Amino acid sequence: MKSELTQLLAAAQLAADRAAAFLREQEGRLGPESWSEKRPSDFVTEVDREAERMIADVLLRHVPGSRVVGEELTPDGARDGLTWIVDPLDGTTNFLHRFPMYAVSIAAVEDREPLVGVVVHVSAGARYHALKGGGAWQDGRRIAVSAVREPRLALVGTGFPYSEMDQLPLYQRQFEAIIRGSGGVRRPGSAALDLCDVAAGRFDGFWELALSPWDVAAGALLVREAGGVVTDHDGNTDVTSHRGSIVAGNPAVYAWLRDVLRSMRDA
Ligand code: IPD
Ligand code: CA
Ligand code: CA
Repeated sequence: MKSELTQLLAAAQLAADRAAAFLREQEGRLGPESWSEKRPSDFVTEVDREAERMIADVLLRHVPGSRVVGEELTPDGARDGLTWIVDPLDGTTNFLHRFPMYAVSIAAVEDREPLVGVVVHVSAGARYHALKGGGAWQDGRRIAVSAVREPRLALVGTGFPYSEMDQLPLYQRQFEAIIRGSGGVRRPGSAALDLCDVAAGRFDGFWELALSPWDVAAGALLVREAGGVVTDHDGNTDVTSHRGSIVAGNPAVYAWLRDVLRSMRDA
């Protein structure tokens, strides 16, 4: 099993590194005339699609018989057997504005469990990975969630609603409670990197209302292997099969965030 995971990791890293090199080369080249909107404020370009083609090509060549569920080309693909869940460019809006928080995110998943997760922070050149049972790593160094336990000291990441505006009133209540109760809130704009920040102990927690499996499958494994907790706002642990809410953190800050989110929902 260990050697199989190592092979999956090698394929995911090769694919992510190729896509990252391509994104680095393309940054700043696309004017607004080439952006399309999938939904309001949800942008996609030929660069997202080409990066996904490159990734799928490497993964399927290196791991015959596996499948790819990718945000732009195969979002509804079947998920039985070994499945790659791919976000070729997490943080497209940032990429289009040359704001440096964007990433490639690739997870290998089986039976709704992430086995391998790779995230590359393109502009920083930082490479994160996790193997189920094998820890979480940044550039060859083991990483762990923070030891901050008190909410008033916690730095918490989040993602704002931007397309599903009916969620804004609930989100604003959550935001007020968390900004009042924590040490600070940040919104960098790439959920995959937000989860890496939790895994590396820079964020003590993170929450968002509506994310897809490709935003979180790799990052969730990083957080768990770094000693943290990731679920949806109801406490369900499956982050690989449907769009939904997310809450993550070191165990203490996770528990606080979940309580706050639960009280907002019930209010
Ligand atoms: C988005 C980013 C962002 C989050 C959005 C995601 P995309 O991914 O992760 O931080 O707030 O919900 O959709 O569309 O840039 O791949
Ligand atoms: Ca994404
Ligand atoms: Ca994307």
